[in-house]
Amino acid sequence: MVIEIFTLVLIVSTIAAALAALLVVSEHFISNYGPCQLTINEERKLTVQGGRSLLSTLQEQKIFIPSACGGRGTCGVCKVKVLDGGGAVLPTETPFLTKEDLQEGVRLSCQVKIRKDMAIEIPRALFQIRQFKCRCSRIEDLTYDMKRFHFELVNPDTIQFVAGQYVQLKCPKYKGNNEEVYRAYSIASDPKENQAIDLIIRRAPKGICTTWCFDYLKEGDPVEITGPYGEFHLSDTQAPMVFVAGGSGMAPFVSILWHMKNTASKREAVYFFGGNSARDLCLSEQMEQFSRDLPTFTFVPVVAKPEPESGWKGQTGLVTEAVSRHYKDLSGHEGYLCGSPGMIDAAIAVFEGLGMTAGKIYYDKFV
Ligand SMILES: Cc1cc2nc3c(=O)[nH]c(=O)nc-3n(C[C@H](O)[C@H](O)[C@H](O)COP(=O)(O)OP(=O)(O)OC[C@H]3O[C@@H](n4cnc5c(N)ncnc54)[C@H](O)[C@@H]3O)c2cc1C
Ligand code: FES
Repeated sequence: MVIEIFTLVLIVSTIAAALAALLVVSEHFISNYGPCQLTINEERKLTVQGGRSLLSTLQEQKIFIPSACGGRGTCGVCKVKVLDGGGAVLPTETPFLTKEDLQEGVRLSCQVKIRKDMAIEIPRALFQIRQFKCRCSRIEDLTYDMKRFHFELVNPDTIQFVAGQYVQLKCPKYKGNNEEVYRAYSIASDPKENQAIDLIIRRAPKGICTTWCFDYLKEGDPVEITGPYGEFHLSDTQAPMVFVAGGSGMAPFVSILWHMKNTASKREAVYFFGGNSARDLCLSEQMEQFSRDLPTFTFVPVVAKPEPESGWKGQTGLVTEAVSRHYKDLSGHEGYLCGSPGMIDAAIAVFEGLGMTAGKIYYDKFV
């Protein structure tokens, strides 16, 4: 009986090993498309190895396409016009492509694989996005699950960015993570200080990049970023503003408030910052300092469920409820939102319910 069971286990294991080997070999041959020619804007011709996504192939060539979700097909920002050689549009792309996109050949570059010669068109501005080698020179705890990382730029040694923009941080392979990935993080520092940037990062349970940031990255380590990316920044009107954020959604507002301070802005801005409990709030002192420096700025921290022992005396409930309590009419205001998609969708509904038009609502969803 024991021998029979042993023989059965041996046969099953051998078949499984043979199938795995077959998969590896077929993957090698199927995805080995050989050298392909990639033509960019009808003028630049590159010979690239086929088989990888258009996004990572361009990245290898130091052409950085905004890719907020790091190529996972969940943000829809990595759009590129494919003039020839892109193949059929994939079901993973269609939720992000409008009718006009489809007519013009716009595709998600993280989903399109290079299988043969391809011709694409990309805005010239994207050639300005750079890769920066940095040194992580300081790591500070902000809350139990949020840290602020200070990256000194080494090469190139300065960066120009607009307050509200983000960078992509390269997370290397580490024990338990077999691939390099990129993740988006909003810059959380003064845009005038261009030799270093701060990032505010919240740990995502079992998240690939945040596990590396929290458990492996140490002060003094080299890090790599690309950027700056993104269109989230203050408009050039003088309309009064409502800011809403939760958790690490704080990051771009730090930079925006520095910008307002640097330009002695007189725009009215009320910033509702939400946390589940009092221990989710951070940077209160810095926000109080901004309130003193900017007479037209008000900071309103809101705690959904304050723990009795916290002694919380501020506003309670959802951050969106605090907005509804504060305003009767937002038709003349602009709204700026940053954080989880759920919070942003809820805040947009509240803004629109109070008369703010969609064109005056700006946001970065942390997908
Ligand atoms: C424009 C922009 C700006 C951003 N700015 C910031 C910022 O300033 N600060 C900040 O902290 N974040 C920011 N983010 C979010 C950030 O980019 C990352 O998405 C976040 O840090 C999580 O990355 P990760 O690699 O640790 O997690 P991932 O590995 O991507 O996983 C994310 C979560 O999904 C879960 N998960 C992963 N795979 C699966 C699966 N198969 N099934 C079930 N669950 C799964 C993980 O457990 C984890 O909790 C920003 C995002 C965008 C788009
Ligand atoms: S990078 Fe392609 S969808 Fe996010």
